[in-house]
Amino acid sequence: VATDLYKPSSARIIDYFLGGDHNYAVDRRLARQFEEVFPGIAHGWRLQRRFLSRVTAYLIWKEGIHCFLDFGSGLPTCGNLHEVALFHTPRARILYSDNDPEIVEYGEQFVIGSGLDNVRYLACDAAKPETLLDDPAVGELFGQERRIAVGFTSLAHLLEQDVLARSLRVIYDWVAPGSHLIFSFANDQTNDFPELVMLLRSLRSFYPRPSAEILELLGPWQVTRHGVRCCACWPKSYAPEGVLRTNSVLLAYKP
Ligand SMILES: C[S@@+](CC[C@H](N)C(=O)[O-])C[C@H]1O[C@@H](n2cnc3c(N)ncnc32)[C@H](O)[C@@H]1O
Repeated sequence: VATDLYKPSSARIIDYFLGGDHNYAVDRRLARQFEEVFPGIAHGWRLQRRFLSRVTAYLIWKEGIHCFLDFGSGLPTCGNLHEVALFHTPRARILYSDNDPEIVEYGEQFVIGSGLDNVRYLACDAAKPETLLDDPAVGELFGQERRIAVGFTSLAHLLEQDVLARSLRVIYDWVAPGSHLIFSFANDQTNDFPELVMLLRSLRSFYPRPSAEILELLGPWQVTRHGVRCCACWPKSYAPEGVLRTNSVLLAYKP
């Protein structure tokens, strides 16, 4: 895939915020505009990675889950899922996916280049999760295991309401009871920062939503007792409440 050096990519901008080196001038330029309209955004991304780290440890140690299936993964660097999961257990299996061909290609090459047998990176539009769920790679990686942790972080606000509800339902029907959904979303407090919303919409469609709406869209997924929280406050407070109040996280499960 030829990289368009004039087109910013949200995955590479996040990589920049996280201190990674897979980003270009066009990404850094837009990243600095984000920092201007929303100071602390880079810190916010680090807090989100720390949430991912805590929730992954929780799923491995408390729930005994070793298989991770991730949608809209972005770049598999800077503390993304496999780094955390494999730190906790060599039994972990991680299937990443994204719909951006350039990110998928980078992800595939990264996984091959790192010699990671337990990790794969595939193309998938989260609007059609069945294309990933039906892929033979799932059986190759997870075997018969369908008690799985599904990653759906910072992706919901990029999908239209009906699409999101359908995708979450398709995934729910496919996984086994005891499976979990790692979920984060831009909440309606994002609207307090109109310049931020404008910049986000310059990249792609963006739908911040109140928690109540997300709870409806989750359908049969049950939120764990930890509830819906700011990412720095899951499962309890690791930073002052509201440190990143535009972003909420939750862990849900299939009973
Ligand atoms: C904001 S990043 C989140 C990355 C990662 N999940 C995280 O939380 O750090 C969103 C990612 O979702 C991808 N994406 C956007 N729309 C998508 C879709 N319909 N299906 C799959 N991936 C999508 C983008 O290419 C990008 O890599």
